[in-house]
Amino acid sequence: MVTVVGKKPKILIIGGTGRFGRHVVDASIRANHATFVFTMPPVTDDTEKKKILESFTCLESKSSLYGSLHDYEMLLEAVKKVDVIISTLGSDPVQLELQTIILKAIMEAGNVKRFIPSEFGMDSKCVNPVEPAKTMFMMKAQIRQMIRNYNIPHTFICNNFFQNFFIPRLGQAEISPPIYDTVGIIGDGDVQVTYVNDRDVATYVIKTVDDPRTLNKILYITPRENFYSLNQLVALREKKTGKAMEKKYVTNEELLAKISCSPSPLNFQLSIAYSAYINGVQPNLNMSPSSAVEATELYPEVDYISVEEFMNSLL
Ligand SMILES: NC(=O)c1ccc[n+]([C@@H]2O[C@H](COP(=O)([O-])OP(=O)(O)OC[C@H]3O[C@@H](n4cnc5c(N)ncnc54)[C@H](OP(=O)(O)O)[C@@H]3O)[C@@H](O)[C@H]2O)c1
Repeated sequence: MVTVVGKKPKILIIGGTGRFGRHVVDASIRANHATFVFTMPPVTDDTEKKKILESFTCLESKSSLYGSLHDYEMLLEAVKKVDVIISTLGSDPVQLELQTIILKAIMEAGNVKRFIPSEFGMDSKCVNPVEPAKTMFMMKAQIRQMIRNYNIPHTFICNNFFQNFFIPRLGQAEISPPIYDTVGIIGDGDVQVTYVNDRDVATYVIKTVDDPRTLNKILYITPRENFYSLNQLVALREKKTGKAMEKKYVTNEELLAKISCSPSPLNFQLSIAYSAYINGVQPNLNMSPSSAVEATELYPEVDYISVEEFMNSLL
């Protein structure tokens, strides 16, 4: 059973069985929050989802475990039980749109002290994306605006890239790791992006839920030592393995052509790579302590995983 310490806020994670959501559930349980998950029941042959659900042995309430966002009354019932809601719904337009139903329930329930919508990537205001990623960023920006318009207490989380997807494949969305002799480098390979471990992002997310310093602000998670360009990532890999790789530079025209002829979800992943490695993540020019804060400065006690440590774990 979960030990509830003091008056820690109760947390509901919507999408807690997803690839990122499961880390947030884990972080919430580790931090001794009463933790609730709202997810659709697994279909009979979904053994992976069943295993994830079984691993959540410390969940505060199994009763609110199952529900669909298409069942508003069940959602409202779950929302009323908690103080904080974290959405880790997926990046496709249908799931992002479903967040408007969560906003409706939060407004009706009136008890929620913090909502964290499903962002967890590059700041939609700081990228110049191409399709199909463009639609995702537009929808995330729209949800942001709705939250502000409704005066829902919130924190927006921006962490650039998760380490787990892009580092093992050295930025090549279309390649399955491990990579051996040849690597494709997008653009000139000099654009830097931050890579944060998925588990660390979850830890910071949970730290923020009752921190007044992050209320109604953007939380950037940008550990300085985790900024790497593709050229630097490849060089690090070469240093670790003691083996030089053949580099093939991919121009923006070649990448755009690849995006247009690739199936989903590869075209989406390639367009994310284009948005970051070709167009770059622009600094937030409006960043001031009243609108945005940085996680490693607020929470220096978090021993986050550096890119080098993560690379070591792959070898
Ligand atoms: N920065 C990065 O590098 C990076 C990388 C990946 C993702 N992300 C971001 O992280 C966030 C989460 O993405 P993800 O890939 O972890 O998502 P995901 O694996 O697709 O998980 C989505 C979750 O939402 C649940 N869900 C979907 N429809 C639902 C409904 N109608 N009712 C209840 N639950 C529903 C799913 O449940 P089922 O299991 O039942 O389907 C699943 O648990 C997104 O904002 C994404 O853009 C960032």
